[in-house]
Amino acid sequence: MVYIRQAQNGDGRGIIKCFNEGLRSGTYKYTGSNMYHNRRDIVDIDAMFQKNKKGAFGFVAVDGNKIVGVCIFLAKDSGRTRHRGEVSWGVHPDYFKHKIGTRLLKAVLMEASKRGFIRVEAESAKNNIPSTKLAKKLGFKLEGIKKRGLLIDNGKYVDTLMFCKILT
Ligand SMILES: CC(C)(COP(=O)(O)OP(=O)(O)OC[C@H]1O[C@@H](n2cnc3c(N)ncnc32)[C@H](O)[C@@H]1OP(=O)(O)O)[C@@H](O)C(=O)NCCC(=O)NCCS
Repeated sequence: MVYIRQAQNGDGRGIIKCFNEGLRSGTYKYTGSNMYHNRRDIVDIDAMFQKNKKGAFGFVAVDGNKIVGVCIFLAKDSGRTRHRGEVSWGVHPDYFKHKIGTRLLKAVLMEASKRGFIRVEAESAKNNIPSTKLAKKLGFKLEGIKKRGLLIDNGKYVDTLMFCKILT
């Protein structure tokens, strides 16, 4: 039984393991990073959650004691764009198509709204059908296209879709 909870200090290792296994499987070919994450990243992720900042939070999907999905929201602390943040998401390939991405993103949107954010942004490669479907399903609207926004590992450029959801 997979449950969703807010990410916390100590989840770094599980989040990195989930991401690295996704990369290894070949199903994460449209993520912004194609580098396997390491111990340094674990420390950074844990530190981010430990700080408990308004504009840096996430939710994880957990099966037993294994993290099988994550959705993270990042925003600036101050300035004229402090009302908006960007979301990113990933589910472990063994758990695709079980609505985990949907549950994670819903949780993040609710929390972002609770924290007073107004605008949530997401970027997805045009060919990334699951991600595009997920964004549209949860009410994100297409605002534009970044021509050749992503360089994938076969050396080809793909356009990326810029999505936004206004929280009211
Ligand atoms: C995008 C991702 C998080 C979706 O997670 P998920 O738990 O499988 O998604 P859900 O089961 O909640 O499905 C969301 C919607 O997408 C659709 N979908 C999911 N996978 C799909 C696929 N392979 N092909 C077509 N549609 C798909 C589902 O049908 C669902 O729509 P519906 O409820 O109308 O049927 C997951 O595919 C993933 O981690 N991909 C790799 C990492 C990645 O690309 N991250 C984003 C970088 S921008």
